[in-house]
Amino acid sequence: MAPPQQSRLLNRGTPNFYRAFAERWNKLQEQDGSFYLGPALAATKRAPLWRPHRGLVVGNEGIQVIRNQCLHGMKYIIDPTLDNLPQPLKGSLMCSWHQASYSHGGKLERCGAMPIQPSDLKVKACPTFESREWQGIVFELGRDTKRARERLEATLAFLEEKLGKWLNFKDRALLLSMVSPQESDLLTTLLNYLDCRHVRRGHAETLALMLDTEKYLSAVGPDGTIIQWMGFKESWFETPLGRYYQEMGWPRPEYGAIWVTLPDGTMIEIYFDQSVVVSQGFADPKDWRRCVLYHDFYYPIGTPVAFAELHRADVFDPTGKEDEEPCSQTTANLDRAIDEGMGDVSVGFFEPIQEDQSPLFLHQVAERLSYPLTE
Ligand code: FES
Ligand SMILES: [Fe+2]
Repeated sequence: MAPPQQSRLLNRGTPNFYRAFAERWNKLQEQDGSFYLGPALAATKRAPLWRPHRGLVVGNEGIQVIRNQCLHGMKYIIDPTLDNLPQPLKGSLMCSWHQASYSHGGKLERCGAMPIQPSDLKVKACPTFESREWQGIVFELGRDTKRARERLEATLAFLEEKLGKWLNFKDRALLLSMVSPQESDLLTTLLNYLDCRHVRRGHAETLALMLDTEKYLSAVGPDGTIIQWMGFKESWFETPLGRYYQEMGWPRPEYGAIWVTLPDGTMIEIYFDQSVVVSQGFADPKDWRRCVLYHDFYYPIGTPVAFAELHRADVFDPTGKEDEEPCSQTTANLDRAIDEGMGDVSVGFFEPIQEDQSPLFLHQVAERLSYPLTE
């Protein structure tokens, strides 16, 4: 008897694998992965909301990543802000609690309100962390910096080769940053990013107006970076954002969207050739069934903030909701399967054309977690 068709397609892994991914991925990242922190913008400081215990400081000591923890009372030195954007750096870094001040590289300069000298203390500087600046953005490297660097360099080389023309952040400004908590597990959320098949129906009134969903191609780098291109559709010019785009005098986009998924799960999305969104997801450390996505929106220098806000309101917010709904149901079903004792039974399958790279991503992730997947 011929095997059932599903057995020829790779399954989507077991419910316990999704759970293990959420519970263990970040530790691997801390070990030898890397974290995007923000733009290498001169005279700015930032404590990104996804990593507030780090401070990205671009000042008179170049690009520095410091532990964002005051040596006095352990408060954040750089306060994270609600808008999550880089803040102007004027003078020394100063902790707002008792005014201890630090050099741009994290050395304690003055003890502020405390009548003692830095020289009286055993620890006089905040720890710093190795980073890599690339095309105007900064990544912090994991503890095993050699391995982390190797990994990141391989990825960046591929990105440069394939998308160098688009990924120059020096010509772009970070106009918006968005925090988006999800009622779904991180792996389901990432696989949904890799799934281009749901765009036409799942985002019929939003993304699909911009994307020619039949014009699709993908490529994989030697490091496992996945790039997916989708064509541009003229109907978008009838939407408020499309009209605004034309007012900006930008040329007709070559692609509606280019989606990049790095092997570590970082996502870079290029929309209508102009906007670049860098996204990272983090599993809720206390509940594998939830995660938070953080998005930094870059646009060509000179783009009005109103354009970015319309992009967010018109496309990004509704698309995000349209994605969260099915993903949260998937997570609920995975969770239920675990409760019912079916946590190690493989589930699902992939659509072979526009989910073509998802099996690869799943395999890469499983390998890094040393988690055996059954065919
Ligand atoms: S906690 Fe920073 S100065 Fe006291
Ligand atoms: Fe989607």
